[in-house]
Amino acid sequence: MTNKALVTGGCGFIGSHIVELLLKNGWSVSVLDNLSSGSLKNIKDFRSDIELLIGDVRDEEILNNALKDVKTVFHQAAFISVPKSELDPAECYDVNIGGTIKIAKIAYKKGVEKIIFASSCAVYGDNKKIPLSENDALNPLSPYAYSKMAGEAILKEISQKTKINVSVLRYFNIYGPRQNPNGRYAAVISKFINDSLKRKKITIEGSGEQTRDFTFVKDVANANLLAANFFQRNYEIFNICSSIETSINCLAKEVSKLTNGVEIVYVNGRKNDIQRSCGSVKKAQDLLGFEPSVKIGEGLKLTFNNFKEREE
Ligand SMILES: NC(=O)c1ccc[n+]([C@@H]2O[C@H](COP(=O)([O-])OP(=O)(O)OC[C@H]3O[C@@H](n4cnc5c(N)ncnc54)[C@H](O)[C@@H]3O)[C@@H](O)[C@H]2O)c1
Repeated sequence: MTNKALVTGGCGFIGSHIVELLLKNGWSVSVLDNLSSGSLKNIKDFRSDIELLIGDVRDEEILNNALKDVKTVFHQAAFISVPKSELDPAECYDVNIGGTIKIAKIAYKKGVEKIIFASSCAVYGDNKKIPLSENDALNPLSPYAYSKMAGEAILKEISQKTKINVSVLRYFNIYGPRQNPNGRYAAVISKFINDSLKRKKITIEGSGEQTRDFTFVKDVANANLLAANFFQRNYEIFNICSSIETSINCLAKEVSKLTNGVEIVYVNGRKNDIQRSCGSVKKAQDLLGFEPSVKIGEGLKLTFNNFKEREE
């Protein structure tokens, strides 16, 4: 029998790459998405190969239907914006905590074997250790970060009380084709590429010496597939990152090169911006066999080409 998966948030940036990879590997795939930040454009190339349910992860009726015969859940759907979570914490908690509770409850009822949960490096907050390991102290600084920490706890509890196996993937900064470049809170790479394609200046907030750990989205999809086959331990947390620190200045220069020298300008930095962020990928390498294979230069080119195609 083929493996049946439910990908919540499968019309989103990361979710759509997971769906694509699962299909390539012969899985049968259902997607549940309310299209609040995702788009049908992200799944247009394989729309006819999946079962698509448009609805909310908080809706028990739709979850009962979506989880029928499902063995593995890739739970990607979320209220994703840190700044917006400060403005509307109730909605953030409702989607990220309430939705995860409902998924856990109905997954148990339906006999799901495995849940893979999209968590975030935001749970480490301003922990200054470099690189960050999974057992380092958590210091969430926003409703979004607290909601991800709570999601991890809810799934830990269910993994202890039932036979459901859980892998938590703490994504660091993910980038790549299909990432949304619009809006005030867009992720830095998609924003830089989008601005430079429009011949707008690349704007760096602060000195640009801040560093982040960037991971290409296809590597993240692969990490999810590896986690789906990980049953050694009931509940395990993995950083999904590259373990390479890249400064925002370096990133801006690379993007500017791709667009024949779009100008880089500096504005005031964000309040409380984290100066350095880098994760240790060792545990995912050792236990999952995960390798972040796409280096930043190559990943930027692939992303740039995808954004250019989308514009044409
Ligand atoms: N992109 C990153 O760098 C990053 C970093 C850390 C963690 N994450 C996590 O990875 C996951 C995927 O993020 P992404 O970057 O692909 O964002 P995205 O916005 O592209 O994907 C999220 C998807 O979930 C859907 N969704 C949102 N609320 C929903 C609800 N209530 N019911 C059903 N569907 C809903 C959206 O429509 C969207 O398609 C999220 O859980 C996010 O918190 C992302």
